[in-house]
Amino acid sequence: MEEKEISQAVVSRLPRYFRYLGELRDQGVERISSQELSRLMKVTASQIRQDFNNFGGFGQQGYGYNVEFLYQEIARILGLNDTHHFIIIGAGNLGRALGGYLNFEKRGFLFKGIFDQNPDLVGTRVRGIPVMPMERMESFIRENEIDIAVLTIPKAGAVAVAERLVKNGIKAIWNFAHVDLNLPANIQVENVHLSDSLMKLSYNINRNKEEKDC
Ligand code: NAI
Repeated sequence: MEEKEISQAVVSRLPRYFRYLGELRDQGVERISSQELSRLMKVTASQIRQDFNNFGGFGQQGYGYNVEFLYQEIARILGLNDTHHFIIIGAGNLGRALGGYLNFEKRGFLFKGIFDQNPDLVGTRVRGIPVMPMERMESFIRENEIDIAVLTIPKAGAVAVAERLVKNGIKAIWNFAHVDLNLPANIQVENVHLSDSLMKLSYNINRNKEEKDC
């Protein structure tokens, strides 16, 4: 199915649809209406219909959506049927935690290597994979067809490391360093700031408190 260019807002909602549909599929549910999905996900049914219309609708009027088909289509749109090889730069707390997380593999993201500038960490293992020195990074990227790099280093070194990654053919960076990376437009960067989510939580706690105090 040919889909038109879709907005990033819709793209950012697709993983959540994918998760819910995966659970429904595991429970043996074959069909679901936009109203039922709306109740489950606490999103309006019209939002769901609008989102799915971006890809041709997926459903038949009055008949609901075919869960398996929808699940597979969203997987395809998200590129989850492809395999991606990723490396991690920075073998500290965060890098090790991400490298140790097995579920990425289920989605086709294969953890291939981890690098750190600290010689004391070189040779220690994360899920059986030895931490390598930074000097090995360039050749490793080329030899192992690495397309994604995960940056879990402090911001001071992040820009220079990102430029080295790009020069050696990395297509995408999952950036946890607290710095904006100014890279060529063909390099995909996804910035993750866990504290943004915490700040949102803090705002909502405060708002809730103020409402009660009123
Ligand atoms: P950590 O100190 O445990 O690990 C950082 C590792 O990066 C160290 O092993 C260090 O040797 C290595 N490193 C530093 N500069 C490097 C460079 N230029 N090249 C290669 N390796 C280098 O820190 P942690 O807790 O793992 O956090 C890593 C970074 O991620 C921190 O800067 C932190 O601010 C950031 N962070 C971001 C979060 C987010 O949501 N975006 C959440 C948690 C941490």
